[in-house]
Amino acid sequence: MPLWGLFRRTRRLPAIKTGELTPRGQDARAEEEQQWQRRYLQDVPYALPKDEAEIDRLNFQHYALMSVQKQHIIAPLDDYPRAILDVGCGTGLWAREVGQRYPLCQVVGVDVEPPERLPTVPANVDYVYGDVLKGLPLPENSFDLVHQRLLILAVPASAWPQVLRELLRLARPGGWLQLTEAGMYFNHPGPRSAHLRDLVNRAIAGWGFDPLIALNMPTLLTQAGAIAVEKRTYGVMMGEAGGQGGRLLEKDMLAVMSALTERVASFMPVEEWRELLASLPEEWRNYGTEFQFHVTIGRKPRP
Ligand SMILES: C[S@@+](CC[C@H](N)C(=O)[O-])C[C@H]1O[C@@H](n2cnc3c(N)ncnc32)[C@H](O)[C@@H]1O
Repeated sequence: MPLWGLFRRTRRLPAIKTGELTPRGQDARAEEEQQWQRRYLQDVPYALPKDEAEIDRLNFQHYALMSVQKQHIIAPLDDYPRAILDVGCGTGLWAREVGQRYPLCQVVGVDVEPPERLPTVPANVDYVYGDVLKGLPLPENSFDLVHQRLLILAVPASAWPQVLRELLRLARPGGWLQLTEAGMYFNHPGPRSAHLRDLVNRAIAGWGFDPLIALNMPTLLTQAGAIAVEKRTYGVMMGEAGGQGGRLLEKDMLAVMSALTERVASFMPVEEWRELLASLPEEWRNYGTEFQFHVTIGRKPRP
């Protein structure tokens, strides 16, 4: 039976917390105001904003990651896939591109705020509402691949075991999970990057998330019941030295740190935070600082 009939296309729009966005690109003051009028989701612990600026950042970040990772799917699928799920699909780009690559495969993106279905999205791709912390409204044993990328600031540390069990429930026996998370540290950091890493990781842990989830993922996935678990690490020199990937990821790193400004303000003067961010690119150049992200794959055992 096709999966389509099982989905309800419910779309819930959480309340806007701090007012609508100021139109972008007007003047410095409008931009400054916008920093403080970011929109956050209300019903989930997700720490990043959910607004136009974040949509731009996520799209940009997708191309940055793809320029380094080169392929959407690392897991060694046996055959042409019939169904693929992307959990926390964000702007839906990964799902859309995978749907284009596999036109005979049903690709489903699920998110607490799913993207609008644009005309350029192929007919075999759909976006549906689902909260992975509450369990997803999808049938078990359905997907050849369950993909989830960058939910480090969405899944509380204590919820990871339950979330991984839920993703395994949805994979078909012999199907794969592919989980990408950022390493929240730098290789070859200078003093300012090390300071940023310590500040951010302390803050993330204080908010209840696991800053080391990328490294802990293979153990957690094995404990959840997956087999053939492997982790691949991608390292990119920040900025020019890292080529196109490095240039894009430098911008992305600064944008995501900037997106956290409002939250960081509770424990650090904003001016100090902004100065720290502004000083990083030069230090990254001088120290040859590398950013890493990790892709963990694992397979659901056959009975
Ligand atoms: C950092 S974005 C990553 C988006 C996408 N995976 C990517 O790599 O571009 C995290 C996404 O997770 C979604 N999200 C947050 N909490 C969630 C939850 N409890 N269940 C499902 N999605 C969630 C957010 O709405 C957001 O779209």
